Amino acid sequence: MGNDTSQDVFKRIDREKESYLEELKDYLRIPSISTDPDYRDEVLRCAEFLRQKMETAGLSTRLLETEGPGYPLVYAEWLGAPGKPTILFYGHYDVQPADPVELWRHDPFEPTVEGDLLVARGATDDKGQSFAHLKAVAAILAERGSLPVNVKFIVEGEEESGGETIEQFVVKDDGDLLAADAVFVSDSAMYGPGQPSLIYGLKGMVYMEVKVTGPNRDLHSGSFGGAITNPVNALGYMIGQLRDPATGRIKIPGFYDDVVEMEDWERKEFANLPFDEAAYCQEIGVTDLFGEEGFSTLERVWARPTCDVNGIFGGYQGKGAKTILPGWGGAKISMRLVPNQDPDKIEQQFIDYLRSIAPVGVTVEVEAHHNAVPVRLETEGPIVEAAMSAMEDVWKRPVRVREGGSIPIVATFSQVLNVPILLLGFGLSDDRLHSPNEKFNISNYYGGIRAVTRFLDRLDAVSEK
Ligand code: BES
Ligand code: MN
Ligand code: MN
Repeated sequence: MGNDTSQDVFKRIDREKESYLEELKDYLRIPSISTDPDYRDEVLRCAEFLRQKMETAGLSTRLLETEGPGYPLVYAEWLGAPGKPTILFYGHYDVQPADPVELWRHDPFEPTVEGDLLVARGATDDKGQSFAHLKAVAAILAERGSLPVNVKFIVEGEEESGGETIEQFVVKDDGDLLAADAVFVSDSAMYGPGQPSLIYGLKGMVYMEVKVTGPNRDLHSGSFGGAITNPVNALGYMIGQLRDPATGRIKIPGFYDDVVEMEDWERKEFANLPFDEAAYCQEIGVTDLFGEEGFSTLERVWARPTCDVNGIFGGYQGKGAKTILPGWGGAKISMRLVPNQDPDKIEQQFIDYLRSIAPVGVTVEVEAHHNAVPVRLETEGPIVEAAMSAMEDVWKRPVRVREGGSIPIVATFSQVLNVPILLLGFGLSDDRLHSPNEKFNISNYYGGIRAVTRFLDRLDAVSEK
């Protein structure tokens, strides 16, 4: 099938370019930071903004409200094509905090165009990418008054903070409201500029916070130094014991027990992907790469579990030198998991190990934050094929890859809905998600809108077969 079937909509997209960009900018102006309770009203305002946009596009919408501290799910549907497949589009309207704000070139919530780049918090993760789904549907409806297939949207506001509301909803709903023939997710990057990827594996996660407590106050480091265990020294020691510095292997007993090794074809396909180590180092500003021995960089990032400190605190942080033995120290430590590691089991192994290596004279408290289950997805079937071809119509045929990031709800979708889940991102690997000056290439925004248009048009043909 040629691109002809979509030409009518493509023309409209070209005509409406500017307004599609302006709408995205309005969306990005709302600081919907779900991890920070101070932004609660903004997150709620963002949900309502999105619902309005969906309603205006011609969808039936509702906010699935939550009790307690969670954020509403924005739900929308258009089911005017009986007998045709139904596609569920997933995205998230919440964003990461903008800190450190002083490193941004502009206000993170005043989206700024720099050539092809749209710079703002959430530009690519995930407002820009998931808004492309909506604009495609809106463009088709505006042009033709109907869609070739049925669509549903579920957009959550807690992806960046653990995704509890959607998790509970999907399990409780048991796939009633969300029943679909496939789920389409754009919350990831293409393999390279012009080279899309179909992601068939996401990592899971265990996120822990450790607090090590020693004396009942900060002490004079001369009067007491040498007599007790310094809790920050103890914390440093324990962190040092998490990973073998020579082999890069995690030392938590049992950590690798349930790891499913890569298959031969995966190692081959990954090895065949173009990977420029020097450019990779340069882009992130490091001199060398390091990781688990026996694996390539892509294998380490995509298919091997990791354990890393995200933040560490305690002791004197002010200017100059203050001579103390701190009363306590703490760290946030996360582990990225691969199939079939079980987050609950890993959490327990982590706690047991830290307790077992704690030096005398300190107490160790360990608290668990959110978890996510690792997932592996099917990459075959007519709907997957339609999506691959749609991406090819706009860019190139996607390569099959795995990913080091997590999208917690994907594992649940996969279990409960039991249909193909298409992880097809429109972003690029240098989009700086979670970092200052996050950006989305404007050409990729329009490319995404076209790709989704093609996907829906191609599905029409699939369902006639
Ligand atoms: N969109 C990302 C996940 C992602 C990043 C997928 C890069 C593919 C490429 C998502 O918003 C995210 O940041 N997820 C968190 C989940 C966590 C808070 C449970 C992550 O991976 O850290
Ligand atoms: Mn995301
Ligand atoms: Mn994110």
